[in-house]
Amino acid sequence: MSVLEVNYDTSIPNNVDLGEDRKVLKALERWHPGYLNWWQGMGPDGFQDSLVYLRTAVSVDLDGWAKFGYVKMPEYRWGVLLAPQEEGRKIPFGDHMGEPAWQEVPGEYRSMLRRLIVVQGDTEPASVEQQRYLGKTAPSLYDLRNLFQVNVEEGRHLWAMVYLLQKYFGRDGREEANELLRRQSGSLDSPRMLGAFNEETPDWVSFYMFTFFTDRDGKMQLESLAQSGFDPLSRTCRFMLTEEAHHMFVGESGIMRIIRRTAEAMKEAGITDPNDVEKIRALGVIDLPTLQKKINLHYSLTIDLFGSEISTNAANYFTSGLKGRFKETRIDDDHQLKSTTYRIMKPGDADFIMSDEPALTTVNARLRDDYSENVQSCMDRWNKTLEKLDMDYQFELPHLAFNRAVGLFSSISATPEGKIISAEEWQANRDTWLPSSSDMDYIYSLMKPEYETGKYASWIAPPRVGIDNKPGDFEYVKLA
Ligand SMILES: [Fe+2]
Ligand SMILES: [Fe+2]
Repeated sequence: MSVLEVNYDTSIPNNVDLGEDRKVLKALERWHPGYLNWWQGMGPDGFQDSLVYLRTAVSVDLDGWAKFGYVKMPEYRWGVLLAPQEEGRKIPFGDHMGEPAWQEVPGEYRSMLRRLIVVQGDTEPASVEQQRYLGKTAPSLYDLRNLFQVNVEEGRHLWAMVYLLQKYFGRDGREEANELLRRQSGSLDSPRMLGAFNEETPDWVSFYMFTFFTDRDGKMQLESLAQSGFDPLSRTCRFMLTEEAHHMFVGESGIMRIIRRTAEAMKEAGITDPNDVEKIRALGVIDLPTLQKKINLHYSLTIDLFGSEISTNAANYFTSGLKGRFKETRIDDDHQLKSTTYRIMKPGDADFIMSDEPALTTVNARLRDDYSENVQSCMDRWNKTLEKLDMDYQFELPHLAFNRAVGLFSSISATPEGKIISAEEWQANRDTWLPSSSDMDYIYSLMKPEYETGKYASWIAPPRVGIDNKPGDFEYVKLA
């Protein structure tokens, strides 16, 4: 069997020779029932007996890595899949740059490395928990299927991190693996580790925003972990990125379809002013100003996930060779950052200032900037579409300082345009910038399931192409 292929003969599908690695296989088999228990209890509510047209990874070869077929979600074959080992790979940055990539955990970095894996691992089940009830209000079977695809793959990403913990971290790893099933999104006693993963994803607009903004943070984190000198982590993340692309597609195309439907309905009704919110809502579609507020919310929550702009932790991860930068190997510098600087924005006395800081302590800020650039280029596509549809409206990303809870901007209040104001003024205007309770009530009022094959809820356009090239009337989910 080629290393690219996945062995489905063991209880846990894998391409890491688990059949020969009895100890780790046993540990994973012991963890498995708890996982299934978690999936039943915290995964999609209902639908566990429905047949869902899902893709399953059958290879880590980038062409033709997945096969599609109807599966009951609890029977999904969650597996351990690593991208192929790169012959002679070297550590690409930090103090150990140029040394052979580690195949075992370097003792001195053991706890830092475990921490990185646990933080990444914690986000995976968290998002499944956050999306737990969305199936009840899916706007179509196509969307329902996409939700479940994202959910089972986040489950697989949990497996990916748990494999690393079980294989490389002995007893601590086993304990951490159990903790990953114990913490719960939004729980008061044992919440998930990062803020945005304790927020609710109560409706489908939030879901598309989450997959667009927050899964894209996931992509950036995976990209920088894919650079890791710890080769098993690098290989794991490289394959996760293949799956992650679909999650962001769901978000980006979902919002695009909302925009299209709103434009279409406005045109039919002869409404030209996108700010005529009441009239537009009367059409049963989502007005663009509300989408802008959702953008403001999800963007600001998500950039908090990058951590403090200036961070010695991040510097240590970098220097140790554990976590690199976005596209590290393509950056033209010394990859050690001993004397280079990076320019970041900081709050000044009355305004913002640009400041050259040591590149080493600002790797978080740099990753966030790369993220923002990526988000902006996707938003440009929405804006192009708005133009093409003759809509007199453009979306904008809020200022870095808007609505922040982490880092340099968390102590100030700023408008989405980047004007520093008092906390009182901010509160008084909050509902013009972020979704108000009446905005959310309106969105909730639209959340009614549409389970008829080929049909779509009033507020969203059908996709242009089906999943796996299926026709428009394909039954993506056979409801039990
Ligand atoms: Fe993930
Ligand atoms: Fe994801």
